[in-house]
Formats: sequence, C-alpha cells, structure tokens
Amino acid sequence: MARRSNTKLKDIRTTNLKIAAEPIKKAELKVAEKPAVKCKKYNDIDLNKWKEYEHIKTDTLWLFPSRDNTGRHSNEYHGNYIPQLARQFFERYTKQRDIVIDLFLGSGTSAIEALNMGRRCIGVELKQELAEHVRNKFTQKELVTEVNIIAGDSASKDTVEKIKARLEIMGEEKAQFLVLHPPYDNIIKFSDKKEDLSNCATTEEFYDMFEQVAKNGYEMLEDERFAALIIGDEYKDGECKLLSFECVQRMQKLGFKLKAAIVKDIQGNERAKGKTAHLWRYRALNGGFYIFQHEYIFIFQKIESKKLKKSNKNDKIQM
Ligand SMILES: C[S@@+](CC[C@H](N)C(=O)[O-])C[C@H]1O[C@@H](n2cnc3c(N)ncnc32)[C@H](O)[C@@H]1O
Repeated sequence: MARRSNTKLKDIRTTNLKIAAEPIKKAELKVAEKPAVKCKKYNDIDLNKWKEYEHIKTDTLWLFPSRDNTGRHSNEYHGNYIPQLARQFFERYTKQRDIVIDLFLGSGTSAIEALNMGRRCIGVELKQELAEHVRNKFTQKELVTEVNIIAGDSASKDTVEKIKARLEIMGEEKAQFLVLHPPYDNIIKFSDKKEDLSNCATTEEFYDMFEQVAKNGYEMLEDERFAALIIGDEYKDGECKLLSFECVQRMQKLGFKLKAAIVKDIQGNERAKGKTAHLWRYRALNGGFYIFQHEYIFIFQKIESKKLKKSNKNDKIQM
C-alpha cells in the first residue's frame, strides 16, 4: 500500500512539473518570434538597426570630395576607381567571406577593399606586369586563401576556366558579387594588346567585347546576386556617345536586371587635368559641347537562371 501511494505522489509531482514548464515554453516562443538580427540573404546589414548605417548611400547622386589613399590604396594608376565605391558595394551587396570577382582589376582597388572588409576576391587584369605588381601588394598567405589575381583576357573561355578552378579551391561554385570597370572605349589607352577593350578599332567592337566579358561574369555569378558597372561616356568625332547606356542594354540582354543608375561626381578622381582645364573650357565653348563632370554606376541583379530561360522561351513564342 505504502509503495502504491508513493507512486501516486511521483505522478502528481511529474504532472505539476509539466504544468509549471508550460508558461516558460510560451515565453521562449515569444523571444524567437523577434530575431535579434534581421539581414538579407546577400549582406550583413542588420535591418533592426537600420538607423545606425548612415554611411551607406541610398540615393543616386554620389559625391566624394577626395579619394581615400589610406592603407594599401594609392592613386598610382590612371583610370582607377576610388575605394569608397568598393566599400559601398561590398557592404550593401556582400556578406563576410563572400567572393567578389573583378574582371578589369587594374591596380587592384576591389581586391584591397575586399580584404579590408573580410571578403575574398578573384581579379583578372590583361596586363601581365600590372597583375604581378598588384600581387606584390598582398602577403603570400593572403594570395593563397583570400585573393587570386589572374593575368589574362576576361573575354576568353580560358580565363573563365581559370576562375572556376580558383573558385573551387576557395570552396565555392560561383561568386557572390561582380565588379565591371572597363576602359571607357579608347579614352585612356591601357595597352597595345588586341584583347584590350581600350584598343578596339571601333566603338561597336568595344561594345561586343564588353558584352562577352559581361557574359562570362554572368555565368560565374550566383543567381539573385548583384553586379556593379562603373562607366563614363565619351565625346568623339564631334558627338556625345553614351557608352554607358549601350553597355547597360547589353547587360540587360544577358539577364541582368537593372536596380539603380547612380551619377558620380568625377572631379576628385581626375589626375593632371588642372593644366588642360582652361583648354577644355575653350574647346567646349567653341564646339558647343559640355565637359564631363560625372560618370555612372549601375547596379544589377542577376535574374535566376531558371526564370531567365523561361522568359527567353516566352519571347520566342511571342515572336
Ligand atoms: C578602368 S581600368 C580598371 C581600374 C580598376 N578598377 C582600378 O581601380 O585600378 C580598366 C582595366 O581593364 C584592363 N583590361 C582591358 N581589356 C581587358 C581584358 N580584355 N581583360 C582583362 N582586363 C582588361 C586594362 O588593362 C585596365 O587596367
């Protein structure tokens, strides 16, 4: 008898415990409903603290009074872009450890800033000696795990294969952000190489080569991820040529969705323009044109490959 009543007592205690445990569970559920950190899939910006990101630009006019030349950055290369752009792109569109591909690496601005921000980078530059020079900006360890610099033609299949191999070594199938900062036709001639986009016989050829590079970039970018195109226009043969708009259209044709068209002031980024400024002003007054004070930054998002195939199919049916 005594044993039986002990068992009953145990049962009652267990039941009481269960009842007591219930309100705690409910309270725990309430905490889980409001996540501590709210981020998009493609960045680490905590939207719960969105007011703390005042340094991130969300409007379409970008003015930077001067170039940031701190750390490994410098103004050594004519035609480089300012690191502040890379900083804006990477914070807005990448997460820690993501891989950025830059298919016109130049002096390595994207690679330096990617590392500064805990991202990784694969960069391609056509000029062998420049690629070597940029490699020297990094330690041997960084060159193994964080940054890969390829000397080659970004329009070629061979370069695509090399990038894919590097991605595999870095444990990724595709990259998470794409930077395209091509020559602006032949405004600055970078080399005599036939593969150089600044060395094309015609502007039409420049567009075709640019499209091939953008196509390669599209192939190596993860679905739904972002790309930035930095480009200016040119005044040639008495006419203003909108290189930017044509390049945007070529990218849209490939399956990049245009998310933003940003105007960036270029005054702080020009080198040695001072002496010729008066001459240009005279030429402008005489020729009826205006001197460029801006370039563009276009932000794109890669349309998911499956959706793109479907819409291409529908286009063909409609035709
Ligand atoms: C406007 S600059 C890029 C500058 C770079 N964003 C920086 O901050 O230093 C364009 C670069 O593209 C390179 N280039 C031209 N044609 C190329 C090609 N087919 N493949 C790879 N790089 C190319 C040029 O040598 C030049 O360094």
